[in-house]
Amino acid sequence: MSKSPIRSVKGTQDILPDQSTRWQDLELTIQKIMDCYGYKEIRTPAFEHSEVFSQGVGEETDIVSKEMYSWTDQGGDNLTLKPELTAPVARSFIQHNLGVQNSINKLYYIDALFRRERPQKGRYRQFHQFGIEVFGSENPETDVEVIALAMHVFHKLGLKELTLQLNSIGSPECRNNYRNAIKNFLAPHFDQLSQTSQDRYNNNPLRILDTKSPDEKEILKDAPNISNYWTIDDKNHFDEVCNLLKHIKIDYQLSPSLVRGLDYYTRTTFEITSNELGAQNAICGGGRYDGLVEKLGGKPTPGIGFAAGIERLLLASSSDNKIRNIQIYIVGIGNDVRPTMINLAEELRSNDIRTSFDYLRRSIKAQMREANKLGAQYAIIIGEDELKDKSVIIKDLSTSNQEKITLDLVQKYMKSLPL
Ligand code: HAM
Repeated sequence: MSKSPIRSVKGTQDILPDQSTRWQDLELTIQKIMDCYGYKEIRTPAFEHSEVFSQGVGEETDIVSKEMYSWTDQGGDNLTLKPELTAPVARSFIQHNLGVQNSINKLYYIDALFRRERPQKGRYRQFHQFGIEVFGSENPETDVEVIALAMHVFHKLGLKELTLQLNSIGSPECRNNYRNAIKNFLAPHFDQLSQTSQDRYNNNPLRILDTKSPDEKEILKDAPNISNYWTIDDKNHFDEVCNLLKHIKIDYQLSPSLVRGLDYYTRTTFEITSNELGAQNAICGGGRYDGLVEKLGGKPTPGIGFAAGIERLLLASSSDNKIRNIQIYIVGIGNDVRPTMINLAEELRSNDIRTSFDYLRRSIKAQMREANKLGAQYAIIIGEDELKDKSVIIKDLSTSNQEKITLDLVQKYMKSLPL
């Protein structure tokens, strides 16, 4: 009895060759733009001590309380596959004293993350983000550069119909007062709230503002607005962010209920959504986290960043998978030609010419068919006669013209072709 084949885990995806060049092109675009803005790449481990997330992201957040892949290893350490990257990057920033070496650190990443969410289109259990984190400046021009960089990448990728939603959730002092105000406002409506919102009422009341329920949205219509709880400094900071955005002609929508689902945020928060996506329409989310480094045991250091979901970027963009076909296919007739074939292939590759040959010792007809199927521009044919007189036949597969040249001239000849 044959066994049924093992399948991938729910919520994970294989990126097959018919999609992988879209990923590579996207990564290349991101890397180029990061270079232009002066951001350096940081790579952190796939798993961290669980405290990085419980302390950094917050015990009461959905990510930490419900979605982490955590385990205790054989040595008794509590570990977690990273569900986000801001806390690990802050951990690394502290551990390696990056703040001592440079007063400003502008970092970026492209990485895989893990959250045990309910999978649907645009929402996976292993997904990928690119993102940036800037440590060292609390000034609004930093916030605006971070937002401008995100927009720059999305425009370069050809994304249209984007909306930037912007808010400030103020300093911790403002947030505490606002939290109490929201609780007081919702107290008379407590029984009308869903179970999730009732739980949030006690643990994380600001998250109720994120509700998708029309009934709860109706109740929240008259809820207090966070802007009434900003300190003077919070207000000035936000006004400057808005003015600078206007100055560089980036449109935004004020979104007073945008609190974001992670506890480290202070002041500026933002999300960019795409009309080209369905329910999971957030392309990217980010904000300022001036208290995070201190919370993880470092010196007080302001920070701001964002992360964008790569699967969602690819869903929203219409880029093609540009297959980079091989250029040369070497056709060999008879087993004696094998050493010459493999040697020639190696030489062509060392001249950066994309080359393949027949591994199955097929008939010449089958090999020519394969050369066409692979999209090769030229076939180099080596038979017993060619082997004897140290020559090859070069066939242009688009015109079927062919000519015989000596083996030692192949490299030079190839360089003269429009490959
Ligand atoms: P986040 O809002 O949790 O923020 O995630 C950022 C983006 O990652 C989302 O807008 C979405 O595009 C993508 N994303 C999140 N979860 C999934 C999923 N299950 N499947 C597919 N895509 C997903 C953060 O992670 C923060 N660390 C962002 C940040 C950086 N804030 C400051 N710096």
